[in-house]
Amino acid sequence: MNDAPIGVFDSGLGGLTVWSELRRRLPRESLLYYGDGKNCPYGDKTREQVTEAVDFAVRRLVDRGVKLIVVACNAATAMAIDHLRAAYPIPFVGLEPAVKPAALSSRSGVIGILATAATLRGRLFRETSRRYEDRVRIIARVGEGFVELVEQNRERTEEAYRRVERLLEPMIEAGADRIVLGCTHYPFLSEAMHRVIGDRDVRLVNPAAAVEQRTEALLREGGIEASGGSRPVYEFMTSADEAYRQRLAAKSEEARTMRFE
Ligand code: DGL
Repeated sequence: MNDAPIGVFDSGLGGLTVWSELRRRLPRESLLYYGDGKNCPYGDKTREQVTEAVDFAVRRLVDRGVKLIVVACNAATAMAIDHLRAAYPIPFVGLEPAVKPAALSSRSGVIGILATAATLRGRLFRETSRRYEDRVRIIARVGEGFVELVEQNRERTEEAYRRVERLLEPMIEAGADRIVLGCTHYPFLSEAMHRVIGDRDVRLVNPAAAVEQRTEALLREGGIEASGGSRPVYEFMTSADEAYRQRLAAKSEEARTMRFE
């Protein structure tokens, strides 16, 4: 048993979509969220820049005594997870686009992947997609401007809808019946995505539930689950300013209302 918090990290607000799943499914666990608002977005930065930023944040979480860290950011996982695992003596859960569940459940044989440029360039994504390429056709696209829309609370605007439509519609017309959300910011755009999809049989695939299951398994294997003896605590840290920290806390409530298959 270990009542220390689980650290949840993202370049900004996006990791809250994972945070909400952890909170829902692991109600005894305290969660300490770090949003690197000062350096967001990561998607177009170099590996060195991202590794430095992620290391800075993770060190702060480790100094606060977290027992495990969920890197709730596909781009940070792609560029820095090897470094983190070598540098810190605690378990890490990383994120990568959910190609496998999408490929195995697709009936049309075409799947769409939306992610940042850094994630699509990464070794993890390239290896996983190669494994499923003979089974499904994979259409991968960068969600240009999506992270910024979410960071600026503009995901319900007409601009958001148009940007989403521009990427999603060609995928659906090409036959995609599964759209993998390969960036944790993107579920915040699910309303716009569902508007584009309409009544067509196309599903959004969000990896948050699988990440929660992996976290739960690691807690169990390590014998570090919370005892349940005290109420869980939810805290938010950021590299940005106090206003951003308050946005994190407010947005966490919005994330809690999201539901995915
Ligand atoms: N939420 C991050 C991810 O999952 C966004 C990366 C970025 O800041 O570009 O990839």
